[in-house]
Formats: sequence, C-alpha cells, structure tokens
Amino acid sequence: MIKLLPSILSADFANLEKNLKVIENAGVDMVHIDVMDGVFVPSISLGMPVIQSIRKVSSLCFDVHLMVVDPERYIEDIVAAGANIVGVHVEACKHLHRTIMQIKEAGARACVVLNPATPLEKLEYVLEEVDTVLIMTVNPGFGGQSYIPSMTRKIRKLREMILENDLNVKIQVDGGIKLTNVREVLEAGADYIVAGSSVFGENAEEQVKEFHKIFKEY
Ligand code: DX5
Ligand code: ZN
Repeated sequence: MIKLLPSILSADFANLEKNLKVIENAGVDMVHIDVMDGVFVPSISLGMPVIQSIRKVSSLCFDVHLMVVDPERYIEDIVAAGANIVGVHVEACKHLHRTIMQIKEAGARACVVLNPATPLEKLEYVLEEVDTVLIMTVNPGFGGQSYIPSMTRKIRKLREMILENDLNVKIQVDGGIKLTNVREVLEAGADYIVAGSSVFGENAEEQVKEFHKIFKEY
C-alpha cells in the first residue's frame, strides 16, 4: 500500500503537536522525522528530546531518518524516544550489517538510506535484512530542493532487485517530491513517499488529500 510520510522538517516547530494532528486528521498514519548532526550534513535539526515530546502527543508511526555520522551510537536512544522505523545512511555506517541488526534488536524496523550518488550495489548483501530502502532523491541536508531526475532510474532498478529476489522490502523516496512529480516515482515503484515542503509549506490538510487522491490511481 502506498503511503505519504510528511516530513516535519518543513513544519512549524512551535506548533508540532498541532501540525501532527492536522496530517493525522487528513488520513496520514506515518510521519518522517529528520535528525541532522551538522557533520554528515551541513544543517542541524532536532534530536531525542523533540522525538520524546511528540511521542507523548502522537500515535503516528515515527520514521526517523538519521543524517548523522556513526549512527550506531544513537540507535537504542532513538528507539526509546519513540522511533518505529530507523533509517541509517550507507555512507555513514562503518559496519552497515551490524547496525541493521542493532536496529532490529532494539525493536524497530530497519531502513537503509542511499545518497543520490551511492550505487544500489551497496545493498547486495543487506537487502534481505531490511524492511525499507530509502532512495534520497535530493542530496540530504535541506528541505525544498529539486528532485534529481536520474533517481527515477534508480527506483526502477531497486524495484527490479526486490522482485528478482522475491523480497518484501518497501521503497521509500525522499526529497523534492510534489503533486506534480509524484506519479513519476510511483510509476517507477516507490511505496513510501516522503514530502516536506509540498505538505507543510502549503495547506497541509489539502495537500495530504491531493496526494492520497493520486495514490488511488496505483
Ligand atoms: C532532506 C530531508 C528530507 C526533507 C524533504 O535532507 O531528508 O526529508 O525534509 O523535504 P522536501 O520534501 O521539501 O524536499
Ligand atoms: Zn528525510
């Protein structure tokens, strides 16, 4: 089933509870939370205390995207704070397989994230262990960037890899996804659509409904 995951990076941080209620009432059941350390990516966003606070006021599935170096340092704390899915970058992990196991042992679903320039070959020996693969469709670090066109090919190729190996792995896409280009990623095979500025940068309720309308075509 195709799902929309609004990214709270583009939400109003003074009104996170309200913003979460708006998307929940519009029919969303998963939310994307971007954690940035200022080292792996240039920007700094939020961390455990914020996740803990919003966990108390929301029953949405929390998908936490860790844009940090050596993410294995934070897995247990992130899960304890309320993450249901934890995404780690291939480029940030010294021992990717071990980190995937660590996420699952901590009780969360494991997601592996690939930057735009990172080839799918990096997934060859871990694909069967993960719940989700996140294809970054912009270079990570900021909301509001433009979708990188060659990522459509990458999504398609990943869909083929999953089918060939008869796996039940979800494909997630993140960056530059809007109502005007979402069909392209859905046609290529994406399951989970992350959208920040195109949801919270506009009338969030309306935007969620418009995305959901398009999903019904697939
Ligand atoms: C970027 C983040 C994204 C960001 C997407 O590094 O990983 O989740 O919030 O924002 P948009 O949808 O505006 O590109
Ligand atoms: Zn993200």
